[in-house]
Amino acid sequence: MMLRSPALPYRLPFCELHVHIEGTLEPHTVFALAQAKGIALPYDSVHQLQEAYRFTDLQSFLDVYYDNMKVLQTEDDFFELGAAYLRRAHGGGVAHAEIFVDPQAHSRRGIDEATVLTGLNRAIAAVGAETGISASLIVCIVRDEPVIEAERMLDRVLTTGVPITGLGLDSAEQGHPPELFAGVFDRARSAGMRLVAHAGEEGPPEYVWQALDVLGVERVDHGNRALEDRALVARLAAERIPLTMCPLSNLRLRVIDRLSDFPLLPALDAGLLVTINSDDPAYFGGYLDDNIRALVKTFALGSDELHALATNSVAASFLRESEKTRLGTGAGPSA
Ligand code: ADE
Ligand code: ZN
Repeated sequence: MMLRSPALPYRLPFCELHVHIEGTLEPHTVFALAQAKGIALPYDSVHQLQEAYRFTDLQSFLDVYYDNMKVLQTEDDFFELGAAYLRRAHGGGVAHAEIFVDPQAHSRRGIDEATVLTGLNRAIAAVGAETGISASLIVCIVRDEPVIEAERMLDRVLTTGVPITGLGLDSAEQGHPPELFAGVFDRARSAGMRLVAHAGEEGPPEYVWQALDVLGVERVDHGNRALEDRALVARLAAERIPLTMCPLSNLRLRVIDRLSDFPLLPALDAGLLVTINSDDPAYFGGYLDDNIRALVKTFALGSDELHALATNSVAASFLRESEKTRLGTGAGPSA
């Protein structure tokens, strides 16, 4: 099936596999919600808030990101957040999204898992009916909190009854190795969840090995630093383990100095199953289509490369085989 992707130069069915729903909270929405609820912000204007988006590393981003989340309080806030993202993603040519959410970032400030997940699940149903986009949820462990908090989060998520596709691992990477969370990942696997983890964004290749060997993940989120380790690259390629990479995020978090340093071509040449994603689009300057356009401009990508990236995104998704086939990869220049 050929899907219309008006914001891209080609009609391609892209899946977005690495987007944090809290990272789609736009600056004007932070302000609107804060004003409506009487929540004090440490900024006088949207412009001043955007000025704070000059990040030096992952932690400098996470500090602002977690603070802004205080404006998200009710089920309707999460519904609106999810609906706005899904409409924007659909407009940018996304056919299917697997959406990360950080329940611990909300429960630690008194917002329970059911409120968050029910609101997002309602958005998936509503915007799916409206536009045809499909989506599912992946709950992520906030890895810089104690392991017991991850255990409790999983317990509570499983009691909400909201369908959850997978478990992930995010937040501050350095000093918080994947192996700490082996027990939680084992329990999630037993509960039928699919497994992913952020690894090799700032952390060393050893964290990617642990994500594979100790957690048993099926996809690695980011994985840039895996490219430092030839044996690891060979393993990822041989087992077709996807890397969900995020170019504009890497640029804004100083993982790379310039977009031309984004390792797309070396990774593809090494036979890795790379997908392109937005991570936190409201903070990093763009949604999936913006990331693709930036790569097209930087690397002069043509239709073959775009077709490969779209094909990879469908292959790397957790959709059923029949759904992957239905999406297909009908490629070609749009009229
Ligand atoms: N949470 C939101 N964005 C993230 C990123 N890029 N790395 C780790 N955790 C995150
Ligand atoms: Zn991420």
